[in-house]
Amino acid sequence: MRGITIIFKKTMKMSDLIDVDYRLLLLLNHLNISLGFGEKSVETICKEHNFDADCFIFLANYFSNKAIMDVDKEFAKLPLQPFLHYLKCTHSYFLDHRLPNIRRKLKAVFEDSGAHLQKVVLDFFDKYQSEVKEHMNYEDDVVFPYVKALVGKTHEDGYCIEDFEERHNDIEGKMNDLKQILMKYVDGSKNQSLMVNILMELYMSEEELEAHSYIEDQLVIPRVKAIEDAE
Ligand SMILES: [Fe+2]
Ligand SMILES: [Fe+2]
Repeated sequence: MRGITIIFKKTMKMSDLIDVDYRLLLLLNHLNISLGFGEKSVETICKEHNFDADCFIFLANYFSNKAIMDVDKEFAKLPLQPFLHYLKCTHSYFLDHRLPNIRRKLKAVFEDSGAHLQKVVLDFFDKYQSEVKEHMNYEDDVVFPYVKALVGKTHEDGYCIEDFEERHNDIEGKMNDLKQILMKYVDGSKNQSLMVNILMELYMSEEELEAHSYIEDQLVIPRVKAIEDAE
């Protein structure tokens, strides 16, 4: 992956940001920010989409060049709510688009490899997909409403973020397992180009999920703990 050495600012044109790092198209996609932004700045586009521009810039810098930013220091200056929105949008993106898309491609690439291999791979993937769904639904239905209520000071006793921290498991590990299996042990796919495309999508998804988990574990949970402690 090429190294990005620019720190993005909200006054920059959105198209310039994407030119520097095309992977930020994924960030736009997660947040349902539509293309066709002409010469508009990040700030203007965020305003049009009702998303905090500073939080957007934080996420863009985090994805592209976290090595040259002080993640904790920058995050401390920002409101929590937009990050909850971002995480929720990413859940929908994965459950409604990304994972079904990978499944469709897996089904197609194993079409000529015999029913058994196709079934083994799809069974593995379906099990994974339902684990991810359960994981994300729990966050959407239990954790995020709790955090919102806590921030708005309307929560009731009975839940704390430690309950979530204890059960919060890794969802990117199995994505890696699948990638390794497809790359190392499955040969003879007649459609090598599609297989490469699937692997690229699995690599990207793994990176996206790692970033997602980092935001939950290392940024949101500590912030929520600090709010709980201050109560
Ligand atoms: Fe999540
Ligand atoms: Fe999670």
